[in-house]
Amino acid sequence: MNTVNDTLIPVLGVITDVRIDTPDVKTFRVVTPDGKKAFDHKPGQCAMLSIPGVGEAMFSITSSPTNTEFMEFSIKKCGCVTDWLHQAEAGQQITIRGPYGRPFPVDTEFKGKDLLFIAGGIGLAPLRSVINYCRDNRADYGTIDIVYGSRSMDDLVDYKEIVDEWTKDTDVHVHLTIDREQQGWDGHVGFVPSYVKELGFDTNKTAIICGPPIMIKFTLDAMIELGFDKTQVYTTMELRMKCGVGKCGRCNIGAKYVCKDGPVFRCDELDELPDEY
Ligand SMILES: Cc1cc2nc3c(=O)[nH]c(=O)nc-3n(C[C@H](O)[C@H](O)[C@H](O)COP(=O)(O)OP(=O)(O)OC[C@H]3O[C@@H](n4cnc5c(N)ncnc54)[C@H](O)[C@@H]3O)c2cc1C
Ligand code: FES
Repeated sequence: MNTVNDTLIPVLGVITDVRIDTPDVKTFRVVTPDGKKAFDHKPGQCAMLSIPGVGEAMFSITSSPTNTEFMEFSIKKCGCVTDWLHQAEAGQQITIRGPYGRPFPVDTEFKGKDLLFIAGGIGLAPLRSVINYCRDNRADYGTIDIVYGSRSMDDLVDYKEIVDEWTKDTDVHVHLTIDREQQGWDGHVGFVPSYVKELGFDTNKTAIICGPPIMIKFTLDAMIELGFDKTQVYTTMELRMKCGVGKCGRCNIGAKYVCKDGPVFRCDELDELPDEY
């Protein structure tokens, strides 16, 4: 078990593989210089990646904890650190610290449940870790439904893994959608919240939603319309972070620190946060 002090000390990392996922998302594989995983983590936890002289930024660990060899990060290019990472190649050294945050309750509340994962765009990054953890511990969970949507077919992160692996699993049902019609796409077209309503899931499931705040809001509304209670729905929050351990006050909402009390929250817990959020 890592202590707070351990998690604040960066370790050296080496990017060993860079995968182009979409026009603005790349997935980076990172190990220590001696080829090991930098530290253990739980599904939903994050790590701070840093490039000396450039900056540091928090990212979800998208690989599953069941992978003991390396960590992966799916990173959307949007500013200083992410632009720099997008031009990095295999062999590049960075630093990494973590793991941070409250994980998804995969070994308690999720156990034995039918699970419904709903993601939009880069929101698949934290969910991929949980989905693959549940696939690797298949006997511990009921059915798995995955609803995933993006702007276009080219913007679906991890499309190859989804098609080659997830869709082939027994009792894993994948429902993909894109925002607008596109040549070469014969799947569903439409936004995630309306697709969720259209699919009309049984309300005995535990649901996990990740994506842009607007998508989370409308999807949660759709779930409630279907009869789900907020206590059955989990989500993640992304606020700008610095320390990652509840010390600097960069990410607090009222008395809660998103880096420490989150980023995973049950949706009824969000109602207890002050209106400033
Ligand atoms: C818990 C957590 C998990 C995250 N997981 C991922 C992930 O898996 N993949 C991924 O691509 N990104 C993830 N992010 C977001 C990522 O941290 C930011 O994109 C990154 O900090 C941007 O750094 P930058 O230096 O490239 O951009 P900057 O130059 O700092 O900023 C560029 C633009 O992005 C905005 N921005 C930066 N950070 C945030 C943020 N946290 N929330 C909203 N807007 C922001 C800025 O306001 C600015 O408009 C996560 C953030 C948090 C807090
Ligand atoms: S990032 Fe420092 S308190 Fe949360």
